[in-house]
Amino acid sequence: MDAVDAPALGRAARLKAETAAVHGRLDARIMAAGAFTDRAGYGRFLLFQRLLHEDGAPLYGHPALAGLLAEAGVGARLHLVERDLADLGQPRSRPAGAPEPAFAMGLPDAAPALGWLYVLEGSRLGGAVLLKGAQGLGLTAAFGAHHLAPAHEGVLAHWRRFTAGLEDADLDGVGEQQMIAGAIAAFQRAHALADFAFG
Ligand code: HEM
Repeated sequence: MDAVDAPALGRAARLKAETAAVHGRLDARIMAAGAFTDRAGYGRFLLFQRLLHEDGAPLYGHPALAGLLAEAGVGARLHLVERDLADLGQPRSRPAGAPEPAFAMGLPDAAPALGWLYVLEGSRLGGAVLLKGAQGLGLTAAFGAHHLAPAHEGVLAHWRRFTAGLEDADLDGVGEQQMIAGAIAAFQRAHALADFAFG
């Protein structure tokens, strides 16, 4: 990954720049797998989302990030993905052979956890595009695509609130590097889960 001019960019912008390549590859992978071509493909996308959001769910209870998360009004969205699976008549449970949840052995430090949360919350920015894809399959934010619904306050307002918390978080230079490493690790994990879900 190219070095980014750290002082010139805020944390959210640095995270975006440092993860642009791995994010782009993930988008392409998901679209190439036919996630929005038919409901069978979308079902595999839901499995992917289920595993990713199960990984991320414990981070929303990270004790060192409680203030930031409350202020930003963010919470885990695993239950929404599970509703979508149920709407499509798919099992909510983890399938046999799926990778173990990423943090089954314990929570990471606050800095890499923030990087992970950047990835999970940031994915809502692309949600409008994905919701359109789901609508093309006859699904809506009230049936089958709950987890792609925009935040009540609006996508950008929500994102601004989250990134304000990110900018204010008490991290030194090493912590910022760990945060970026956490975001890259989250995207790499998403690739591994896409491999499992889409085969
Ligand atoms: C086919 C699937 C996907 C598409 C088409 C897509 C598309 C997009 C789009 C259009 C944006 C907004 C970019 C902007 O406003 O500058 C975005 C942002 C983002 N997406 Fe995705 N995305 C997809 C999947 C994902 C997934 C699965 C994740 C997480 C694992 C993810 C993480 C992010 C993040 C972190 C951002 C915020 C970037 C920023 O800092 O502004 N995306 N995506």
